Order: sequence, then structure tokens, then C-alpha cells
Amino acid sequence: MINDLSVDFSGLELKTPFFNASGPLCTTLEELQALGQSNAGAILSKSCTLELRDGNQSPRYVDFEGGSINSMGLPNLGYKAYESFFSQLVRFEKPIFCSVSGLSISDNEIILKSLANHPHLNAVELNLSCPNVIGKPQIAYDPETAQKMIAMARRAFPGILGVKLPPYFDFSHFETMAKILSQSDIQFITCINSPGNGLVVDPVSETTLIHPKGGFGGIGGKGVKPFGLSNVRKFRELLPKSIQIIGVGGIFTGMDVFEYILCGADAVQIGTAFMQEGPEIYKRIETELNDLMIHKSYSKLEDFRNQLKIVEAK
Ligand code: DHB
Repeated sequence: MINDLSVDFSGLELKTPFFNASGPLCTTLEELQALGQSNAGAILSKSCTLELRDGNQSPRYVDFEGGSINSMGLPNLGYKAYESFFSQLVRFEKPIFCSVSGLSISDNEIILKSLANHPHLNAVELNLSCPNVIGKPQIAYDPETAQKMIAMARRAFPGILGVKLPPYFDFSHFETMAKILSQSDIQFITCINSPGNGLVVDPVSETTLIHPKGGFGGIGGKGVKPFGLSNVRKFRELLPKSIQIIGVGGIFTGMDVFEYILCGADAVQIGTAFMQEGPEIYKRIETELNDLMIHKSYSKLEDFRNQLKIVEAK
């Protein structure tokens, strides 16, 4: 039996609830077409800037036993290239999302106003949480700046708009951001971006694993999942139902997807595991999620979405 894995995402239909995180394997037209051919429920392009960027020096992405560390530095082809790609992705008949990460409020405004006129783009994910651009702090750790950026984005781009957030670790920070997001008339949030500025050491060579920023970079992989789940769960509690939530962080299996949906995620994205396994991962995860739902006698995602219970006190 095949379950119904579809998601109504702000009126867009995702045939499966998982797709790529903006980051790995979504920079070139060929990579985006491979996502189109895969079982991913949507196609999301690499965070774009006004102009093409080569990004930081290599080594800038390295897998290690506990996950991955990266400091890519926003290598991308510039927003105009992505605008030209979107029309070539329509044939895959799945929603097309563009991640936007301009280096200033005015860069983002130019990009968003241009994207607003694109006939084939379905949604924008405004990145407020890139940890890897030298000299640029993560916007979403500064609520005032984040609020201004979101207000500008809302004016510039009338379509389906969401923001990509970094992990928060304190209830007061969740509450501050939830207030801003609730008042901002956006359609979704994506959480979490990779916890920024981790450091992974190679004890043999006595060096850092990556070169940029003194070896500091965003961390992906299994250890990140508890924080992805906590951020989804907390924001689901604090935000109005009109704002949907995409969960990200440490997803490797169908069971991981199940856990995110149980915590309230509407859909999920996959970063490190997609980088390691390639576009075939979406077929494996679909099979695993489907089998798990059959085992649990669930036929659709609504049967268990946001149904997490607190374990009884003993
Ligand atoms: C990059 C990393 C991120 O976590 C992000 O959100 C955007 C860009 C990068 O280094 O390219």
C-alpha cells in the first residue's frame, strides 16, 4: 500500500514532504534538474546574491565522523542565473523555491522585486542565517535588523515568502522572534540553518578541517537533530497556524522525517545526508517513511502531525 505523503504548502502541492536544504547540490542547472527528476517534493535553489560569487577558499566542506562542517561563503551564480533556470524546471511539475541571501537590505530588495515578476517561481526562502560570510553577522540573531529585513521583503515580494532561521537555544529568544514573525505576514519559516561557527579539529595533522574563518564553520549531521526538533516544536507552539514550518537538521532516514512531522513540521529539508548520498536519497526516504506509516497504521501525514506527547512523570 502507498500512503498519501502529499502536503498542502500555502496552496502549493508537494507530492512528498521532503526536499533539499539550500546548500548542497543545488547551485547549477544540472543539479537543480537532478532534483527535479528525484522524489524530492520541491526544488530549492542555492542561496543567491546580486552578483556571482566564487565563495570562500577550499577546503570549505568536509565530512567527519559526527557530520559535516562547511564554510562555503555563498558560492552561487547570481540571482539572474537562477531566474533563467526556473523556466527550465517547470517540466518537473513540482514547486520551485528560490533561496535569497543578498549581502545587504538593498541587495535583497533588488533581488526580491525582480523575483516578484517571475512567472514560474513559486516561493522565496529569505535566508536570515548564513554563518559563513566574512564580516557579516547572522541577521536573525539581531531581532531589530531581522524585523526590518522581513518588512522590506514583504513589501518587495508579494508571493509565498518564508525565512530561514538559525537555531535558537533560549526560550526568551524563541518568544522574541515568534512575536516578530507573527506580525510579519509571511507564509512559512525554515528552521534550522546549520549551527554556526563550530570547530572541528584533525588531531593527526593538528589542523582545522576547513580553511576559511580560522576553521570555524556551520555544523550539519546527526548531532544537530535535537535542536532542529526543538526549534520546530517551539515555533509550532508560538506561531499562528497560518505560518507553516519546514524542519531541517540531521535528517538521514524516514524515521527522522517522522519525528519532525510529529513535532509539528509541515515539510522538511535535507542537507548533509543529501550531500553524502545524492538525489537517490529521496526515494529511500520515501520508502522508509511509507513503511513506517504502514507499521503504525497511519495513512496520511495529518494523522500524526504535531501529535508529540510528553512522557509521563514517574
Ligand atoms: C552558506 C551557508 C549557510 O548556512 C547558508 O545559510 C547560506 C550559505 C554558505 O557558506 O555558502
